[in-house]
Parts: sequence; C-alpha cells; structure tokens
Amino acid sequence: MDLKLTNKVAIVLAASKGLGKAVALALSAEGAIVVISSRNANELNKTAAEIQAQTGNRVIAIPADVSDSEQVKKLIKQTAGTFGRIDILLNNAGGPPFDKFENFDDEAWQKAFEVNLLSFARTAREILPHMQNAGGGRIVNIISGSVKSVLNNSVLSTAMRMGVVGMAKLMADEFGPYQVTVNNIAPGLILTDRIKDTLPQGADTEQALKEKAKSIPLGRIGKPEELGALVAFLASEQAAYISGTTIQIDGGASRAIF
Ligand SMILES: NC(=O)c1ccc[n+]([C@@H]2O[C@H](COP(=O)([O-])OP(=O)(O)OC[C@H]3O[C@@H](n4cnc5c(N)ncnc54)[C@H](OP(=O)(O)O)[C@@H]3O)[C@@H](O)[C@H]2O)c1
Repeated sequence: MDLKLTNKVAIVLAASKGLGKAVALALSAEGAIVVISSRNANELNKTAAEIQAQTGNRVIAIPADVSDSEQVKKLIKQTAGTFGRIDILLNNAGGPPFDKFENFDDEAWQKAFEVNLLSFARTAREILPHMQNAGGGRIVNIISGSVKSVLNNSVLSTAMRMGVVGMAKLMADEFGPYQVTVNNIAPGLILTDRIKDTLPQGADTEQALKEKAKSIPLGRIGKPEELGALVAFLASEQAAYISGTTIQIDGGASRAIF
C-alpha cells in the first residue's frame, strides 16, 4: 500500500533512539521529509545520518528539549521556514520515573507535567496554523498502555497520559474541520533502551525477557519498528477518517476489555 507520504514534512520528537527513532525511520522509508529532535545533539546527528543512509530520503536533526518552550518554537519555525509546510507531528518524550505515589514531591509532578503533558499541548498549538495552511495534518501522541490498565508505580506517567487522552479528544473535535486528525498510541512492552535498562545485564537478560513475555498473549516483547509502522499508517492519506482514538500496541497484554 502506498501511504502517500512522499514529500510530506514530519516533525518527530524524542527521536534519537527508541520509539521516536523507529517512527522517524518508518516515515522516512515512506518518503516523508523528517525532522528529528531530542536533547543530545551528537546522538541526534548520528541517528539522522543513519536513517538518511538507510532510506535515501532527507532527515534533518534539530536538537531541542521538549519541555523548553523557546527551543520547541524555534524548531517548528525553522522547519516551516525551510520546507514551507508541516504535515505530521509525532509527540513523544522521555518517560517519567516509576515509584510509589508517596515518593513523588511537587518537583517531580511539575517535571512530569512539563515533559509529558504541557509539551504535547504546546507543540500541537504551535503546529496547528502550519497544518491549517497545508490543508490538513496528522498529530500522533506516544503515551502508554497504563491509560488502559493499571501499571504498578506508574502514577506520574498515568496521570499525565490520561491528560493527553482527554486533550487529544478535544483537539480531534476542534481540529476536525481543518482535516487535522489527532490520535494516541498506547504501547505495552516494546524493546527499547528504556526497557533494556530495567533488565538484569549479561547472561540473565534473555531469561528476564522470557519472563516478561509470559504475560503477553503473543509470547514476545514488541519491536520498535512495529510501532513505527502503526504511526506511519496513522500519518497516511488512508487514515484520514481515524481521529480521537487511543490505539494499543501490546501483543494483547492489556487485561482491560474496553
Ligand atoms: N518502550 C516501551 O515499552 C514503552 C511503553 C510505554 C510507554 N513508553 C513511552 O514512550 C516514550 C519513549 O520511550 P522509549 O522506550 O523510546 O525511550 P528511550 O529509548 O529511552 O528513548 C527516549 C528518547 O527521548 C529523548 N528524550 C528524553 N527526554 C527528552 C526531552 N525532555 N526532550 C526531548 N527529547 C527527550 C531521548 O534523547 P535525549 O536524552 O538525547 O533527549 C531519546 O531519544 C516514553 O515516554 C515512554 O515512557 C514506552
């Protein structure tokens, strides 16, 4: 299927590695011009070069911290100035720490709010006029399966991601007339560095992965490229009638029926 993404302009946030990188690769492989962003400029430049070498399509690296308003505004302005349009936004960020509710102080809550909720609102607000000018657009938010079923110690993540779910529904309402769709992706366990870092290192890693896979009906942990493919579809022409949804990608792991 031709997803008709050739020469569409995409901004993919938090994309030097992990899920963001997989999304950038998938969009680039489909012909989009991709602007990737994250904080560490060296890592970001390496990733841009790697994706561009793989797909043959243009990948631009612009470093930014998603929680820094000025950096994000500059990134969007630079992208629109260079390419004259923005069609696709992948909202993504590093995840907040896991711990018991009683261990998080105001500072931790404030940081999670700025990184995992406010940043998503800000980018959508700043990009909307460019999507209106382009005659439509796609906003996809990476959140977490914790919005569907309880995940221990994920109170910061769950509280912020539930905010994104509500916000996306309202945005889908308001942005629909501009042919801008807004959807959330709720991943279960997808094998990125964020997950690898929680596993025992060395010979025990494989065993730990097998243990985790036991509670997943498909019997394995997800691959980042599987999530990348889902976002590429949501960004496509064919997905024009999908908006306001939260789509799980978890190998069937969620215990919730709705
Ligand atoms: N992997 C999973 O199974 C899974 C499941 C549920 C939810 N999620 C969520 O999905 C998101 C991505 O996870 P991942 O597994 O891809 O993580 P990852 O492999 O650790 O990658 C995180 C990426 O985000 C960038 N980043 C972190 N903080 C940032 C900030 N403030 N501004 C800009 N970029 C930032 C990092 O680069 P720099 O450090 O250089 O900025 C890196 O490129 C997280 O929010 C995570 O909680 C993941």
